[in-house]
Amino acid sequence: MKRVNDFRLKFGSLELVPIVIGGMGVDISTAELALEAARLGGIGHISDALVHDVSDRRFDTEFVKGKTRFYKGNINNPDKSIIHFDLGHLAEATRLHIGKTMDAKCGTGMVFLNVMEKLTMNGPRDTLQVRLNAALDAGIDGITLSAGLHLGSFALMAEHPRFRDAKLGIIVSSVRALQLFLRKTAKLKRLPDYIIIEGPLAGGHLGFGMDWAQYDLATIVAEVAHYIRTEQLAIPLIAAGGIFTGSDAVSFLEQGVAAVQVATRFTVSEECGLPAKVKQEYFKASEEDIIVNTISPTGYPMRMLKNTPAIGSGIRPNCESYGYLLDGNGNCAYLSAYNQQLVQHPDGKNIAIFDKTCLCTHMRNYNCWTCGSMTYRLKDTSRKLPDGSYQLPSAEHIFKDYQFSVNQQIALPD
Ligand SMILES: Cc1cc2nc3c(=O)[nH]c(=O)nc-3n(C[C@H](O)[C@H](O)[C@H](O)COP(=O)(O)O)c2cc1C
Repeated sequence: MKRVNDFRLKFGSLELVPIVIGGMGVDISTAELALEAARLGGIGHISDALVHDVSDRRFDTEFVKGKTRFYKGNINNPDKSIIHFDLGHLAEATRLHIGKTMDAKCGTGMVFLNVMEKLTMNGPRDTLQVRLNAALDAGIDGITLSAGLHLGSFALMAEHPRFRDAKLGIIVSSVRALQLFLRKTAKLKRLPDYIIIEGPLAGGHLGFGMDWAQYDLATIVAEVAHYIRTEQLAIPLIAAGGIFTGSDAVSFLEQGVAAVQVATRFTVSEECGLPAKVKQEYFKASEEDIIVNTISPTGYPMRMLKNTPAIGSGIRPNCESYGYLLDGNGNCAYLSAYNQQLVQHPDGKNIAIFDKTCLCTHMRNYNCWTCGSMTYRLKDTSRKLPDGSYQLPSAEHIFKDYQFSVNQQIALPD
C-alpha cells in the first residue's frame, strides 16, 4: 500500500516531499507554519495579504499607523479614490516579512509566497509589480499567483534577475483559466514551474461561481493533465481542495499529480496564526455550519463558518488604514453597500450589512472564519481535553500524518 512518502515532487534535480501547505492570509499561514513544512522537506506558504499589518505586528514597524495618520482627514469622506499605498513602504514591508522568514529557514524544503491578484490596493498594476519584485529581492524560493487570472503578472517581474530562477506557479480552477494564462505569457518564454489545481472544496475564495458543487477536483485534474500532455508540456501539477488524509493524497498522486496542496488540517495546528478561540470554533463545527456565500467584495464566493462574526457586521470601512480591496478607482463592493446604508442611518449607528463585508478589517482581526469544506472533520484529528476544548496538534504531527498514514487513518496527537 502506497504512502505519500513513496512519491516525490521534482523540480529538476531537486526532490521534495510532495506536501504543500497552502497560503492562508492574513497571517493564518504564518512564517512558523511555512518554516515547519520547509524543515520537513515539503513546501510552506506565507501570504503577502495586509503585509503592512503583518510587519507591524511582527517587527514593530508602524506602516498602518502612518497610513491612517496620513489619510485621517478622509475618514468621513465616502470617496476613497485619493487613498494610495506608498510603494516604498509596500516594498519595505514585503522585504521585511519575507527576508526574516527566509533567514529562519532550515531543512531541504521551500518557502513560497501566496500573492492574490484581487488585492488591487487602489493601484492594481503598480502595487502588484512592487509586491512581486520585492518578494524576489527578499529571496523567496517561489511565488504562487492566486485569486485572479494573473494575465500580466509574469511580465511585471520579467526584468528581475531572479525571474527565471525562482519557482513561479499559478492556482487555477479550470483548464480555460490555465490556457488563458499560458497564452498571455507565451511571449516571455517562461513557463510556470508548477500549476496548482484548486477544486471547489477548498477554503478561502473559490475559483467557481455559486454552482461550485457541480464541479469536482479529480475531473478538473484529469482535464488539465490531458491538456498539458497534448501541449507536450512537462509542468508538475498540484491538486488542492478537500484532501484530508494521506490516503486522499495518495489517490491524487496515483492519478499523476506531482504533489498535493493542503490547508484545512493545518488551521488548528499550534503554528497557525488563528487565535486559540477561533481554532476551537473550527474544531467544533459541524457540516451544516460550513457555508459558501458571496459576502467577499472580491466577487468570488468564499467558504466560511456560519457563525463568522463578519457576517452582518456594518462597521465603518477602514480604507484609510487598509484599503487592500480598492479597485483602482476608490471603489469596493462593501464601501458601496455601506454608503447606501449610511443614507438611511446618517449617524452610522445600527448598520447591519449582510450582502458584503469589510474583508480587510475582518480578516485582519480574524473575524472572518474562512475554512475548507472538510473543517467539520477536524474534531476527528485530535483529542478532546477534560475542559471540553480540543488539543492543538503540531504542524509536524499533521505533516507527518499526511506523509506516512495509510488506510484513511489519522494519527491523533500524543
Ligand atoms: C483559512 C484558510 C484561508 C485561506 N486563504 C487563502 C489565501 O489567502 N489565498 C489562497 O490562494 N488560498 C487560500 N486558501 C486556500 C488554501 O491555500 C488551499 O489551497 C485549500 O484550502 C486547500 O484545501 P483544503 O483546505 O481542503 O486542504 C485558504 C484556505 C483556508 C482553509
